[in-house]
Amino acid sequence: MATRRHILKSLATLPALTVAPKFAFGTQNLSAVLRPFPKAVSLVPEQYGKTPVWCFNGSVPGPEIRVKQGERVRVRLDNALVQETTVHWHGLRLPNNMDGVPHLTQKPVAPGQSFLYEFDAVDAGTFWYHPHQQSAEQVGRGLYGCLVVEEHEPPRVDRDVSWVLDDWRLNEAAHIVDDFGHFHDMSHGGRLGNTVTINGFLQQSLKVRRGERIRLRLVNTANARIFGLEFQGHEPKIIAIDGQPVRPHSPNNGRITLAPAMRVDLILDMTGETGSAHPIIDSYYSRGTYQLSLLDYSEEALRENSLESGIALAPNPVPEPELGGARVIDVLFEGGAMGRMEGAKFKGEWLDIRTLVRNGAMWAINGIAATGHVLDPLFELKRGETCVLRMSNDTAWPHPIHLHGHSFRVLRRNGEDEPHQPLQDTVLMESGDQVEIAFVADNPGDWMFHCHVLEHQMSGMMGVVRVA
Ligand code: C2O
Ligand code: CU
Ligand code: CU
Repeated sequence: MATRRHILKSLATLPALTVAPKFAFGTQNLSAVLRPFPKAVSLVPEQYGKTPVWCFNGSVPGPEIRVKQGERVRVRLDNALVQETTVHWHGLRLPNNMDGVPHLTQKPVAPGQSFLYEFDAVDAGTFWYHPHQQSAEQVGRGLYGCLVVEEHEPPRVDRDVSWVLDDWRLNEAAHIVDDFGHFHDMSHGGRLGNTVTINGFLQQSLKVRRGERIRLRLVNTANARIFGLEFQGHEPKIIAIDGQPVRPHSPNNGRITLAPAMRVDLILDMTGETGSAHPIIDSYYSRGTYQLSLLDYSEEALRENSLESGIALAPNPVPEPELGGARVIDVLFEGGAMGRMEGAKFKGEWLDIRTLVRNGAMWAINGIAATGHVLDPLFELKRGETCVLRMSNDTAWPHPIHLHGHSFRVLRRNGEDEPHQPLQDTVLMESGDQVEIAFVADNPGDWMFHCHVLEHQMSGMMGVVRVA
């Protein structure tokens, strides 16, 4: 069966990368129809068997939706699952009632029912969509897709490629191990899989040509896996993080860190020799380094020298935080295995850690272990005010912390200015990290604020921020 060794061995024989199907539109009324339903697909080579998943429109990932910046996005969700569901537009700054959070921003969509999502794509960039209902299971079974909002004047590239990354916990028959919400996953690092896919298929190689310039959009849709990608022999430039442009720069130590829910846009100049091959390594987990893919050069060059045209993206219309006079709020993340949390408030009552765990709660934000999506706000912000969150990760685990409806600037990490102070919607906090972020609370409504390790979210690590 598909043991890691088999999988890695089979790498050489895999077909060239295929990109998820795209909906072309613009003239029609709808940008897309998303229909989630169960289906058996090939995540691993045919001989290992098919994998029953839940997916949008019959493919993993679901269709890549592409619109132009400023366009109206209209997507109808037709729920063909046996569970209620929603679609959340991760990273988009949109009206609260289109955010797709069940009970909080809309009624969940029942099996057989439809819902129309409609909003303007104000920011260009790489985003994604996924259910916010029973996310650990629904996203974990394959419900997600990429949403690209195209710039009016994108940098010149030869190819624009999206890589939607996921990892799966498969058994001998290549079926998904049905242990969502497993205690160990919730209390430790979340549900890590044993099989990593790119665009719904096992480690593929990317056929490239010398001199070619590729824009590579990386999207991490995994429940819990963090990627640390090295493009051996190449110098990728990061031009956007979480959809938001950043001054083009090389990644720190040559490694691109991509926590769950994060996106990174790269410019990759193919500077290798014709006929050569260069591994793409994932080395985030020191004991689990493996080859994710391979840059496979054809015998013919596209051009001898790389393009020299500019790669910087124009900024999106995100309001700039005004730090003088900002509202400063401390946020403490606690709990989990090997943590020191003694207890937390759960449904309004303080419980000691043992009792919490018996109730399926392992984590807390500012002393509150959340359950369900309807929550009293952790704090309330005045519309238009700048808010600085001073966040501390007092746990033994990394957490990608995500805020809905806004993009925030990452100001400082452990007392030092963050290089480039990027705009993000999800920021990775390693164990013990202190991270300061700032944003203008310009989008009214109740917004989810949670860890995007979906097993942590479901076991307490979430809350609501109110902008009134
Ligand atoms: Cu990607 Cu609250 O979500
Ligand atoms: Cu989100
Ligand atoms: Cu977490």
